[in-house]
Amino acid sequence: MRIDIITVLPELLKSPFEASILKRAIESELVEVHLHNLRDYTTDKYKSVDDYQFGGGAGMVMMIEPIDKCITALQTERQYDEIIYMTPDGKTLNQGIANQLSLKENIIILCGHYKGVDQRVRDNFITREISIGDYVLSGGELGAAVLCDAVIRLIPGVLGNETSALTDSFQDNLLAPPIYTRPRDYNGLQVPEILFSGNFPEIEKWREEQAYKRTQTRRPDLLDL
Ligand code: ADE
Repeated sequence: MRIDIITVLPELLKSPFEASILKRAIESELVEVHLHNLRDYTTDKYKSVDDYQFGGGAGMVMMIEPIDKCITALQTERQYDEIIYMTPDGKTLNQGIANQLSLKENIIILCGHYKGVDQRVRDNFITREISIGDYVLSGGELGAAVLCDAVIRLIPGVLGNETSALTDSFQDNLLAPPIYTRPRDYNGLQVPEILFSGNFPEIEKWREEQAYKRTQTRRPDLLDL
């Protein structure tokens, strides 16, 4: 998979890809991530990428021209399956969207800033608009990092143990069950006996029950999906 991220703040997006799982995924060539500074696609001498809103109103708007130039330059090199715009009024990211995107070959992610982008960008270039939650960030970069993490860890081979993404919360619309490790007794705090029974079908049954109970109390909305 190849991900091209268009941003006015490339420095904000460097570190998420320089540590842990995402770093290893890039090193093992399971994914390529390229950051593009939108200011490199401006023609004016101040390298501005935004301007005042037509009709008046507070806040600047990202201009169509540099975005068009950047996307068009990328599209001359390869075909893109998705051009995603990160915005608080997009569809809220969930595991289903992450699963879908993990199957794509080439993705562009456009990070919004200021008041957002000129609507003509959204109408003519964007194939999907994604929000990471009902709150407003200063820009789309942190959202793009969250999206990339959620997607890249699902690419086969990225996680050491192939099954570990399958047992994550949300993969089957259930939250994950409780987990424990050593010591078995910590100052009287005990680990459930069933986990030492050696009866793996029973352990699996217990985990499913726990996952269901946890979902019912914390996120009953997931059970209606
Ligand atoms: N840009 C600003 N807020 C955002 C959000 N909640 N999700 C994605 N991009 C954003």
